[in-house]
Amino acid sequence: MSSDVSASTPKSPASAQPTALYGGQGTRRVTVRDIAAAKARHEKWPMLTAYDALSARVFDEAGIPVLLVGDSAAMVVYGYDSTIPVTVDDLVPLAAAVVRGAKRALVVADLPFGSYQSGVAEALATSARFMKEANVQAIKVEGGRRVLPQVEAMVAAGIPVMGHLGLTPQSVNAFGGYRVQGRGEDGEQLMADAKALEAAGAFSVVLECVPDELARRVTASLSIPTIGIGAGEGTDAQVLVWQDMAGLTPHTAKFVKKYADLYSVLGDAAREFAGEVVTGAFPTPEYSYK
Ligand code: KIV
Repeated sequence: MSSDVSASTPKSPASAQPTALYGGQGTRRVTVRDIAAAKARHEKWPMLTAYDALSARVFDEAGIPVLLVGDSAAMVVYGYDSTIPVTVDDLVPLAAAVVRGAKRALVVADLPFGSYQSGVAEALATSARFMKEANVQAIKVEGGRRVLPQVEAMVAAGIPVMGHLGLTPQSVNAFGGYRVQGRGEDGEQLMADAKALEAAGAFSVVLECVPDELARRVTASLSIPTIGIGAGEGTDAQVLVWQDMAGLTPHTAKFVKKYADLYSVLGDAAREFAGEVVTGAFPTPEYSYK
């Protein structure tokens, strides 16, 4: 099974030029058609979360083609210990700021817990708020077959939908903690969910904290891209929460690689600023008006 999978998802050499999707400088926003074309070309691409205009601008100018206003904002913006408490009213202004900050990236908004599970009407109404008030171009929901009516209705209404399977954090209480999902027979359930999302018209699916081999099989079985987070090397795309990626979060999961140490950089800057204020070294005439 795994040799079939690796044959259909060839690896780019490390020296490969940036793909058209990642790092492109187009004059228009990335669309779901661009995402589909990238899968057909076997391109790998990065996605990051963003929650404000300035970080969105930085990532957009770095060529990140898709930005996710995740409900992880609950933890990294609002300081909750799970994603459960965050509300639509909390997330819509963040999503609007990200859209204003990013000129090229496709911006996807997460529907938070309790804003789509009760049925199609609720899912459509919440999605409409994100699309009308924040101007996002796509919506993400957690779950597979259990949210299929919602996904079908959203797609029928012209809303691009990103699915999310595996360790779906809104179900943390049902899982009994943040644990790897899809091991053993559960893997076949996850595969069925992924195929159902694709059949319902989702344009992509996040696979979070699932075994590498399962993520490869799902990726090979779908014509829509898979976006991995803690799902190994075999997915079409990879996503990280930006504060994890940049080392601002003190404690992170095993799957997080830190590409900077912003926790130290910001702390050092704050300490140096404070030291100069208390000693009178700042501000000097250079930073003053005559
Ligand atoms: O909320 C979020 O940031 C997410 C990503 C981690 C996929 O769902």
